[in-house]
Amino acid sequence: MSTSAFLKMPNSIYAGTDLTKHLDELIKLQTNQKVLLFTDKGIEANHLVDPLITYFEHEGITYQVEDEIKPEPSYVQVDALLQKVSQFDFGLIVAIGGGSVMDAAKLISLLRGADYTIQDLIQNASIAKKQVPSVMIPTTTGTGSEATINAIVTIPEKQVKFGIVSGEMLPDLVLLDVNNVKKLPKSILAASAVDALSHCVECYTSKNATIFSNDIAAIGARYIFQNLVTAYQDEDNVAAREALLLGAFYGGVAITASGTTAVHALSYPLGGKFHIAHGVSNAVLFKQVMTFNKDAIMPQLANLTDFVFPDNQQDSEVSKADFMIAKIADIVEAVAIPTDLKQFGVTLADLDFLIDSALQQTRLLDHNMKVLSREDVENIYRSILS
Ligand SMILES: NC(=O)c1ccc[n+]([C@@H]2O[C@H](COP(=O)([O-])OP(=O)(O)OC[C@H]3O[C@@H](n4cnc5c(N)ncnc54)[C@H](O)[C@@H]3O)[C@@H](O)[C@H]2O)c1
Ligand SMILES: [Zn+2]
Repeated sequence: MSTSAFLKMPNSIYAGTDLTKHLDELIKLQTNQKVLLFTDKGIEANHLVDPLITYFEHEGITYQVEDEIKPEPSYVQVDALLQKVSQFDFGLIVAIGGGSVMDAAKLISLLRGADYTIQDLIQNASIAKKQVPSVMIPTTTGTGSEATINAIVTIPEKQVKFGIVSGEMLPDLVLLDVNNVKKLPKSILAASAVDALSHCVECYTSKNATIFSNDIAAIGARYIFQNLVTAYQDEDNVAAREALLLGAFYGGVAITASGTTAVHALSYPLGGKFHIAHGVSNAVLFKQVMTFNKDAIMPQLANLTDFVFPDNQQDSEVSKADFMIAKIADIVEAVAIPTDLKQFGVTLADLDFLIDSALQQTRLLDHNMKVLSREDVENIYRSILS
């Protein structure tokens, strides 16, 4: 565990329902009160944008809707949208959507009117300065992007995903409204919540874990373990969905305080080349990577078992660690996430690409408690390809 700790959070966070009114506290501080309402077509089709539009119209606030962003966006797509939205004069970004929408919006908050480009940020994100304040309203139960200092983009020419990291992109206001996840389709709920669970477990078992990230990741993991299967099976269980929204948020806070490790490192090439949804590619790898790491993270897995499953009957550290890994495998299976990579068109012929690409994710691999050799990475990929 790291000997020093820090906690960075969005400025204000509200949870509950009917939260739109809280936009007022940020809007009234702006000299330019025109809003860029950033979303995607799936969110619009589900009418999640409507309460915001009603609010803006009622308050007489000028707004422009931008809904062209695609899931798992590339930096090229974000750049094209930046050029498009820059034709509109806005002083605040309100983003409503999953991680794809929020990540793109966070980048636009750094890039709009700046004298650097998104390519510059990929090279060196420390030059970033927030240009426009931002509001994040998540509609999936997964990425925690509303609380992270990361934005993930695909780099098409390398067929990988890349995390741009800057504290400047932390939002000014976050609204966690369960109404936005009430109709989230089961498959997206499941994949995004397993993504959030992997954030919590990876942060808890990271070399970079801190006192803050441990407490927060453990609470996030407990919310997700206790509620995911219920939320998946009973689509009307609002309390379970709300718990997942909180668990995802805590996962994001834990990422900012610590950071994910080898599950995400090996997952990025699967998303970058084969466009497997982020939560699904993490789910595929989750058990295998934790099994590989087990001997180096035994106390952490055991402590997490005691915290999340206080009634567990295990009596040794190793049996508690095994119990946690079994629970991870069980939950992925219970929510029916496909874990056979062949169905996504990935074959053994892709092995060299996957290994080379994963080994380049040093930002994440450096925090994995166990060093991964080329052979280790190969063995993990082989285990999910056979
Ligand atoms: N910034 C971070 O810290 C971070 C962390 C993890 C993942 N990510 C990134 O986030 C992206 C994935 O985000 P995601 O899993 O939230 O999914 P997403 O944003 O890609 O959305 C997936 C689909 O779900 C639809 N959708 C979202 N909410 C809905 C709702 N309530 N009802 C109906 N449809 C809805 C969207 O329209 C979209 O078609 C990836 O690019 C991933 O790399 C970022
Ligand atoms: Zn993730």
